[in-house]
Amino acid sequence: MKKIMITGALGQIGTELVIKCRTLYGNDNVLATDIREPDVDSAIAQGPFEILDVTDKNHMTQIVESFKPDTFMHMAALLSATAEKNPQFAWDLNMGGLLNALEVAREYHLQFFTPSSIGAFGPSTPKVNTPQVTIQRPTSMYGVNKVAGELLCQYYFDKFGVDTRSVRFPGLISHIKEPGGGTTDYAVDIYFKAVREGHYSSYIAKDTFMDMMYMEDAIDAIIQLMEADGVKLINRNAYNLSAMSIEPEMVKEAIREHYPEFQLDYEVDPIRQNIADSWPNNIDISCARAEWGFNPKYDLNKMTEVMLNEIAKKNKVR
Ligand SMILES: NC(=O)c1ccc[n+]([C@@H]2O[C@H](COP(=O)([O-])OP(=O)(O)OC[C@H]3O[C@@H](n4cnc5c(N)ncnc54)[C@H](O)[C@@H]3O)[C@@H](O)[C@H]2O)c1
Repeated sequence: MKKIMITGALGQIGTELVIKCRTLYGNDNVLATDIREPDVDSAIAQGPFEILDVTDKNHMTQIVESFKPDTFMHMAALLSATAEKNPQFAWDLNMGGLLNALEVAREYHLQFFTPSSIGAFGPSTPKVNTPQVTIQRPTSMYGVNKVAGELLCQYYFDKFGVDTRSVRFPGLISHIKEPGGGTTDYAVDIYFKAVREGHYSSYIAKDTFMDMMYMEDAIDAIIQLMEADGVKLINRNAYNLSAMSIEPEMVKEAIREHYPEFQLDYEVDPIRQNIADSWPNNIDISCARAEWGFNPKYDLNKMTEVMLNEIAKKNKVR
């Protein structure tokens, strides 16, 4: 049975990760932490929770000493679009937080997970079927942080024997928690707007292909990777992961299967478009499949159906 500490637990991924881990490993065996308090009636608040700023190493150490986890999942970070607005702050939080987390994992012999991103690629990366090992010269601060983070994970594995595991997540799509300032957020917003207003203005241009994945597949992938036999894991920096490569018009067509009146137009945001243009169109996930059995269940149509139904239920539209 694992005993898990999670940082950034109130974020888009953390919220669903905490709930899944508590279901699998027991409510009291999963400590959620974040820089802010959870809502008192939220699912996160129904189990162990501590306030933790990940840039405060002493406090992180104190919490590890008192909770005594065997596994550390580090989710706290500033995402791509937000990081680009304040790059120095992004460096301090993304790299300072990660280094503290890796140090704690080294000192207390904890299994370690942190996500990288398709943002770790850049304009000189092959755009189609992007290989697991390839050119990584990102042009955003977020991308720079993710490449450095991947290398740090590999370094802590090679140098100190820390059991580091990571994935390059594509854009993650969920109806439970609003996204936290990423470039792929349009693919979440579009569903909410389709149900609530029947119309969406996309800040990402037509024909901009990016990898995406439904949140349930992302959470299952984390659990599966953490449970995998370490001997079989060749890549200790981060695994390419994706379930679909999509662009806004494809999402529109999938939505129109359920909401035929849905309208999509474009008001492109140059900052986020620039980041999107520097990312791959679709990445090769064969190493994750071969080394630990990654096998996502949701394609665009299946995900669209669930997203629209769940959002409609929340809004009592249908
Ligand atoms: N969501 C995606 O589509 C996506 C895709 C690829 C990679 N990722 C990566 O997954 C991880 C989690 O992403 P997310 O989407 O859940 O992010 P999010 O922005 O939704 O959540 C981040 C959480 O970190 C917390 N936080 C911020 N500063 C903190 C600090 N100093 N100390 C402690 N907590 C702090 C925030 O309060 C927030 O709850 C990040 O590393 C991100 O880069 C996410």
